[in-house]
Amino acid sequence: MVYPKRYTVTTALPYANGPVHIGHLAGVYVPADIYVRYLRMNGKEVIFIGGSDEHGVPITIKARQEGVSPQQIVDKYHEMIKKSFLDFGISFDIYSRTSMPLHHETAQAFFRKLHEKNVFTEDTIEQLYDEEAGMYLADRYITGTCPKCGYQEAYGDQCEKCGTSLSPTELINPKSVLSGSKPVLKKTKHWYLPLNQYEDWLKEWILEGKKDIWKTNVYGQCASWINEGLKPRAVTRDLDWGVPVPLSHAEGKVLYVWFDAPIGYISATREFTGDWEKWWKDPDTKLVHFIGKDNIVFHCIIFPVMLKAEGSYIVPDNVPANEFMNLEGDKISTSKNWAVWLHEYLEEFPGKQDVLRYVLTANAPETKDNDFTWKDFQAKNNNELVAILGNFVNRVISLTHKYFDGVIPESTDTTALEQINIPAYREKVSQAIENYRFREAQSEMMNLARAGNKYLTDTEPWHLIKTDRQAVANVLNNCLQICANLSQLMHPFLPFTAEKIEALLHIRRNLNWFDIGRTDIVKAGQKIEPPSFLFEKIDDKIIEYQIEKLKNSKSAKHTAIAPAPLKEEISFEDFQKNDIRIVRVLEAEKVEGTDKLMKLTIDLGFEQRTIISGIAHQYTPEEVKGRQVAYLSNLKPRKIKGIESKGMILMIQESNGKLVFLGPYNETENGSTVG
Ligand code: 2FM
Ligand code: ZN
Repeated sequence: MVYPKRYTVTTALPYANGPVHIGHLAGVYVPADIYVRYLRMNGKEVIFIGGSDEHGVPITIKARQEGVSPQQIVDKYHEMIKKSFLDFGISFDIYSRTSMPLHHETAQAFFRKLHEKNVFTEDTIEQLYDEEAGMYLADRYITGTCPKCGYQEAYGDQCEKCGTSLSPTELINPKSVLSGSKPVLKKTKHWYLPLNQYEDWLKEWILEGKKDIWKTNVYGQCASWINEGLKPRAVTRDLDWGVPVPLSHAEGKVLYVWFDAPIGYISATREFTGDWEKWWKDPDTKLVHFIGKDNIVFHCIIFPVMLKAEGSYIVPDNVPANEFMNLEGDKISTSKNWAVWLHEYLEEFPGKQDVLRYVLTANAPETKDNDFTWKDFQAKNNNELVAILGNFVNRVISLTHKYFDGVIPESTDTTALEQINIPAYREKVSQAIENYRFREAQSEMMNLARAGNKYLTDTEPWHLIKTDRQAVANVLNNCLQICANLSQLMHPFLPFTAEKIEALLHIRRNLNWFDIGRTDIVKAGQKIEPPSFLFEKIDDKIIEYQIEKLKNSKSAKHTAIAPAPLKEEISFEDFQKNDIRIVRVLEAEKVEGTDKLMKLTIDLGFEQRTIISGIAHQYTPEEVKGRQVAYLSNLKPRKIKGIESKGMILMIQESNGKLVFLGPYNETENGSTVG
């Protein structure tokens, strides 16, 4: 095998329209992190790239739903996602974002270059338009029936059921997500990437060059698209959120999110280092994209065609896409709130990052969809991490303290260690990781812990100590070497635990992968720390709580509650007595000693007022500050908790009790009347 000079490893940029969940982790981030940690331990030059995808319809739809601007949405979720990845130990060299100016500049320069090279075709086409909303409907603003598999909720750019990449006009019975109305056709001009002109190159590069190299699921999807014949693909959109098309005659148009997002990998590299070109243009660099299966067409066909058309870039060496992780038998769904959210896990299971990493890798959906269940999470923790790995390390350290005062004893016989043959484990783990088989790799690592446990149990030092102290010294020294080797072998998978073992045994940091197999990683005569548990049992109550929480979150969103009965009729004059205004919340703070009350300072344009609002159980002051909201200004003032409250902000109350702000779609003047 010829080894490349360096590795550029990217992970799909998650949309910054919601938090990250275990499906994202299992499919993309955990395997990528294992791969990169392994490469680093092998002394390879590697850059590990992540970032938030902040454009596209998924963002603008979320902003509409929450009644805030797209920028507010991406600011909120970018920070949240970035922090949770960091806390979870995903060891990015850079976690960037696509709304940053450097990215806009990079994506625009890329587009301009293709434009100058006459790569694009231009076409004025009839596109679906929502007359009620006054907007062209791109991608996820339209749903309809997939012409290929009949799924009724396919999006305008892709059917999530069968993975087919679509154009909005291909949908049967299209419907606008905005108004629910049937869209009409209206003329508009767009720029197209002529994928059809690259068919021969794709056939040679993928169909001939990647057979038996790429995973079968990835190769198979590519082969079916290429063999069906590719069509030119529009890379611009009529939207007001995204990277503006950098041409003079293209006002109101932005780059298609799937054109700009993968360029985000390049922008992130530029943000990380001035010396970025070697990571993208040197043929000795190996480019690997970690993604989920719904992203295959974009990373294997569209982005490579963009890179090839530009001319100076390398194309991916591999795209080890995973299938999906389900949750308790159902598809993970953000909109249905059927997920285990990373930020919540980190709060509810502090210090247990490695448990989730372990379970997600043990069940990684590498060749088929897989299922995460809380019971299995508990079983893997209790029966594998606690009973095998933790138990072995703990017994070895305890016995060393019991028989040798916590000082590593001198060994006179390493035969047993040689028989266990640690280098063979290292090689198996290496082979598996280099071939993107992370489940197998982790399970080989665990086999070394099993072998250690068996050796300790078979030699019975607790009996042997009565007759042969040197033999016990040999066993414990050997076992301590196994623990030390294990700490290195587990580094890519369980980095937090690896560091704990290093601290317990005083192992020098920064050993490399080829130290694994040495029989003298820890030295005789060296003191070690007293035992401390690496893992602890998770009991039924905790698991039951999580299962209950999941069920509740689903039913909260979806139990149909009888609609509130209509109120009695009123006259127009009655209604006109309400003085409803749009105001901006300037300040917000919780009222101390209460759960629900928040004190707001609002701006009516011509005066400021204080009101008390019952929203603190659902929103933080940061989420409220800066919003424009509807406000009933002439409600008689009331004293609440000693504070005079003048008027009331108007909220939508959903059937599950959730309060949602009511405000203008676009910024408006404070004090504007509503009626
Ligand atoms: O599917 C998604 O969540 C996309 N945001 C992935 C983008 S990957 C890359 F191209 F940026
Ligand atoms: Zn379909």
